[in-house]
Amino acid sequence: LLKAILFDLDGVITDTAAYHFKAWSWLAEKYQLQLEPDVETRLKGISRLDSLKIILQENDLPVGYAEEKMEKMCIEKNDYYKKLISMMTPQDILPGIEPFLKEARRADIRIGLASASQNGSYILDKIGLRSCFDTIVDPSLLIKGKPDPEIFIKCAHQLGVPLENCVGIEDAAAGVEAINAAGILSVGIGSDIELKAAQIILPSTQQLKLNIF
Ligand code: G6P
Ligand code: MG
Repeated sequence: LLKAILFDLDGVITDTAAYHFKAWSWLAEKYQLQLEPDVETRLKGISRLDSLKIILQENDLPVGYAEEKMEKMCIEKNDYYKKLISMMTPQDILPGIEPFLKEARRADIRIGLASASQNGSYILDKIGLRSCFDTIVDPSLLIKGKPDPEIFIKCAHQLGVPLENCVGIEDAAAGVEAINAAGILSVGIGSDIELKAAQIILPSTQQLKLNIF
């Protein structure tokens, strides 16, 4: 029996991937770093610092060579990203999400946010969906990021719903892996090649309906 839906944010509720990519591209240019063409896809679901470490590694720069410098770069990337997302409005909600949230609400299903983004609450405010969420996991308190199941387990726990009564929705391979590892029913939104580990794969958020679970 479905009692809770655990949502990823970026790429599921709203499409911020392009903004993240723009901000990383700006930072890369500033520090004369190369970005691999598929970096936008690979950094999906990966925390800010881990994303930076991946970029540095691919530029043959030693990871952890200067914690302070990495911290500064993360802040710079985020300041740029915040400027981009400050323009977001309810028009940025992906198709099908609002009716799906309403359908879930009517069925008395609890709604949680399991996003690695520290900008999660801010974005939900911007797009006018903050009040639809019963809980938001604070990603700064997590020990491990996705693909570790911690964030989804914590989200279910915060809602007080057993894992077997939850479904998790993700657009990233690392996120689907995290949901599966938590023993939660996984729904992948996007490419069935990229998200082949998901138990249910939908081409877009438009197909989200309660009767598919
Ligand atoms: C999401 C995105 C990632 C991003 C991460 C951290 O998982 O898919 O691309 O790096 O959140 O976001 P933040 O807003 O904290 O930099
Ligand atoms: Mg995502």
